[in-house]
Amino acid sequence: MNIAVLTSGGDSPGMNAAIRAVTRAALSEHGRAYGFLEGFRGLSENDYTALRHESVSETIDRGGTILRTSRYNDFKDPRVQARAAENLKSLNIDALIVVGGNGSMQGAEALARQGVSVIGIPASIDNDVNGSDFSIGFDTAVNTVLENLSRLRDTASAHERIFVVEVMGRECGAIALNAGMAGGADHICLPETPVDERQITLISAVVEERIRQGKTHTLIILAEGSGSAEPTAKAIMDRTGRDTRFSVLGHIQRGGSPSAQDRLLACRLGVAAVESAEAGKSGVMIGLVGNRTVETPLAETYSVRVQTDPELLRLASILS
Ligand code: F6P
Repeated sequence: MNIAVLTSGGDSPGMNAAIRAVTRAALSEHGRAYGFLEGFRGLSENDYTALRHESVSETIDRGGTILRTSRYNDFKDPRVQARAAENLKSLNIDALIVVGGNGSMQGAEALARQGVSVIGIPASIDNDVNGSDFSIGFDTAVNTVLENLSRLRDTASAHERIFVVEVMGRECGAIALNAGMAGGADHICLPETPVDERQITLISAVVEERIRQGKTHTLIILAEGSGSAEPTAKAIMDRTGRDTRFSVLGHIQRGGSPSAQDRLLACRLGVAAVESAEAGKSGVMIGLVGNRTVETPLAETYSVRVQTDPELLRLASILS
């Protein structure tokens, strides 16, 4: 079977491991493997490269994506989608594997409607793709946040300051909640409870309580979907009268060598995606649910919003 792969949307650590797994699984069945460059842009403009066994050597530990990526808005146009489908046909490609987040699964679904055989693999640091407990890159991003939190705690403690640390995740608070819990944050602001006067009152109470307990610094994690660090820090400083700083971690969270978890996830999903294509499946995403690979119709991966686990929320409120 001839298989093509592309990476699309925001890059995430482990995308290379997924490309490698797809390539090697396709070649092991004596098929051909191709990679389209810069996501749906390359697919629409027939910009591709043949992938051989050695093309993906020494990539498993690399962040970014060797195929590069893009947010290609033109792909919303059905004429561009039809051109992409034509390109796949002319190359005799039997199935396309799309590695990316929500928006990319939407693009993959559009192609399936054009008659293309397509399988999705969830890859996004946000962990907001329905149909998988984890998306590739999330674990590495959480670890990157942890590393930085510990540095920020050093300086916060030395200066007896409050720190507001803004993390990525769009409308999803998974990075904030998981890194906040694992990093021992004193308060976590999630998109479900955007920063408003009530939150500032709550945070100020947390700060005052900590001071009563003899703790002289406070670390607050803020999901970008709940507000912005700078005005939040200012509001806290105005309310408490205490020295407050902010830090926006930004794209640092998207880079770096993937964690063992992300590499293994990419290996499992990459091989399972090729096996699904070989079994004649299409229009589904392969995710990991309860440590098993499962298929979810592409339309459900982006139309159903991933809910924050209420049990994790309960634990976070006990622990902070
Ligand atoms: O979806 C991944 C993500 O990193 C989000 O967390 C963030 O809001 C967004 O992408 C940033 O996008 P860009 O790299 O296009 O600025």
